[in-house]
Amino acid sequence: MVSVKQLGLAAAILSICGLGHAERNITSDTYFYGQSEPVYPSPSGKGTGDWAEAYEKAAAMVAKMTLEEKNNLTYGVATTENGCSGILPSIPRLGFTGMCLQDAGNGVRNTDFVNSYPSGIHVGASWNKSLAHDRGWYMGGEFRKKGVQVALGPVVGPLGRTVTGISNDPYLDGALGAATVQGVQGQGVITSVKHFIANEQELYRNPTINSRNESVESISSNIDDKTMHELYLWPFQDALKAGSGNVMCSYNRVNNSHACQNSKTLNGLLKTELGFNGFVVTDWDAQHSGVAAAQAGLDMAMPDGQSFWGDNFTDAIANGSVPESRLTDMATRIIAAWYKMGQDESSYPAPGVGMPYNVSEPHTIVNSLTRDAKPTLYDGAVEGHVLVKNTKNALPLKSPKLISVFGYDAKAPDEYMPDGKSLLYNPWGIGYSPAIFQMGDLFSMTVINEPYYFQVAFNGTLSVGGGSGANSGPYLSAPLDALQQRAYEDNTVVMWDTTNNPSFMGLMEASDACLVFINAFATEGLDRAGAYDDYSDELVNKVAKTCSNTIVVIHNAGTRLVDQFAENPNVTAIVFAHLPGQDSGRALVSLLYGDENFSGKLPYTVAKSQSDYYSFFHTGAVTPYGLFPQSDFTEGVYTDYRYFDLHDITPRYEFGFGLSYTTFCFSDLHVSPVKHGISAYPTGAIEQGGAVDLWDTVATVTATLRNTGDKAGAEVAQVYVGIPGRPVKQLRGFDKVQIPAGGSAEVSFPLTRRDLSSWDVVAQKWQLQNGEYKIYVGSSSRELPLMDTLTIVTSS
Ligand code: BGC
Repeated sequence: MVSVKQLGLAAAILSICGLGHAERNITSDTYFYGQSEPVYPSPSGKGTGDWAEAYEKAAAMVAKMTLEEKNNLTYGVATTENGCSGILPSIPRLGFTGMCLQDAGNGVRNTDFVNSYPSGIHVGASWNKSLAHDRGWYMGGEFRKKGVQVALGPVVGPLGRTVTGISNDPYLDGALGAATVQGVQGQGVITSVKHFIANEQELYRNPTINSRNESVESISSNIDDKTMHELYLWPFQDALKAGSGNVMCSYNRVNNSHACQNSKTLNGLLKTELGFNGFVVTDWDAQHSGVAAAQAGLDMAMPDGQSFWGDNFTDAIANGSVPESRLTDMATRIIAAWYKMGQDESSYPAPGVGMPYNVSEPHTIVNSLTRDAKPTLYDGAVEGHVLVKNTKNALPLKSPKLISVFGYDAKAPDEYMPDGKSLLYNPWGIGYSPAIFQMGDLFSMTVINEPYYFQVAFNGTLSVGGGSGANSGPYLSAPLDALQQRAYEDNTVVMWDTTNNPSFMGLMEASDACLVFINAFATEGLDRAGAYDDYSDELVNKVAKTCSNTIVVIHNAGTRLVDQFAENPNVTAIVFAHLPGQDSGRALVSLLYGDENFSGKLPYTVAKSQSDYYSFFHTGAVTPYGLFPQSDFTEGVYTDYRYFDLHDITPRYEFGFGLSYTTFCFSDLHVSPVKHGISAYPTGAIEQGGAVDLWDTVATVTATLRNTGDKAGAEVAQVYVGIPGRPVKQLRGFDKVQIPAGGSAEVSFPLTRRDLSSWDVVAQKWQLQNGEYKIYVGSSSRELPLMDTLTIVTSS
């Protein structure tokens, strides 16, 4: 593979100047790696499939617009009328009411009277598609009531921004991301699937000025074409298939061309290959050019576009630099999405109606809370908890006489208000003060005041991530509060010391259980410094030294290693509690006491050591071209369990793993044969999501699942496929089923053409190969008791 270090400068120039090869001679992936192919002109939206009616209406409205009116649709304006992150003005004369664009990750951000839902990673850990859908539906209802037309999420991307992302696996990410899109858009709110694409690190996320006053570009994610399709584009494809009306392009560069002016990713992948009918919006301030961005497929600049578009854009059209048809297409895509979701209906609340400009000042309350959302909030919180260790019958707790509680993460944060200030100006999110921090040996003490290295939220329990993913609900059920309530009911004594240096140890030995709460923080704008911290690990071991029944609960905003205490025999149970939202404590206590059963599964691999990961974070190296930071994705498709399989590395807890209070048994695997002579490549028409026959079911896998224990519980049946010549196995199906004690259920998984295909770089198509495909079914990526073979013989 040609090193990007050799290509970097030339490629950067290529992207700036917009020059490129007119003809392609693609023989391998090196054609794409590190240099973004030019793809012009920008394809006009076609209004395929169920977009046809919206396109007809949009074309009729846009035809009545003046040049200026069309232009005004392409960028946001500043206003003090509401507190929306992005505001698109109305065109009253034509009945267009304008748009409010607002974050997103856990619910409506920076306002009051909204719920705080489980985060993306928590949804990932639940492996529950219908729950993901319902969470989207209720969340969408709140966006709608608040007068938000575009909800700035979900985040889909294999590693993505860990605070709001769903999973490291594209299949899981795509399936749950698509369910979220359907839920939110079911309420008529447009989803903004983000961040397109390969936005895998925060370091150098935006261009900066260095100490020598030189401009340093944002990071370039350098990805080959196969990896782009099979890993990074995959979940976006699912979200588009699910109908997303908007895509947000990202801060980073992709193969050395800015993601918001990258003709290959926007014109090529998104608008041609995936037939996107909706519009592309920038991440905030991610626009870097006027003419080039428009030609490359950008449709809307946020939060404003004055510096590159605005009046400059009408000039560019007048002087022929950009054809007016491109502006017409931009406007049509935006208005079509608005019509498609029914936002023209008078019942749709006016933009920003529930989004006060300053939520700390007196304002009109728009209450979007409903009782109906409560079961989904609670179930969502329950199901994202993953039990990974449970020895000596530690759990469930059985009416303990005395429990001791430790750790900074047990109690409610000192501050929990939707005051806007903490949300907007405090990168730590609500109430997470970076002030008190102590780091172990991962980084030296000298960096204590350097915010880039913080990895613990000391100020209280972590229920959401920071930055644009943060929001606050009507209340926060902190673990310690919920434990106290349960103690009241059970006549249990609770003692606690949540200080950073617990001295109360007296009754530890007499405790039936000692609960230690720690966390792993993450926020937009900062990469996590590491996958564990010594401070928290020492706290666990300190308690475990005296308490023989130490139960560790970790609120982790990303993968968290546990090897400094996992084998300590006094650490009897470990729970990855992720980011449960406002029902955190209540859900946890139900699980700890066995009122609910654990059913969450890891949406990532937990390694024994950080060095076991190929690259834990894509914190791009500064290459010899220091002004053009590069992050080479040389691991290709071998991320997470694919990498562990390839190199035969034993993880601490594998992808897909999670314990329950009951046991399950898999049997009776059946794989339906694929008819001989199936075409190797899809031949269907392109609609939103790509060639329509990519979604045809090619084979069906069925198996029987039995609950062999004495408690009711839910198991996630997982199907992995070994495609010839590909990673040993890849997740290609999952289903979460609730089964009573002693009961059984049949699980059935349709495998689509895409599920069984690999990306053919030369043909530029998904290809079904001739050969034998291994089919595995089981309860995790390494616990796969059922195996069969599927033979495919294509017509070519
Ligand atoms: C974030 C986006 C967010 C936007 C608007 C950006 O900094 O990267 O995820 O949607 O701000 O708040």
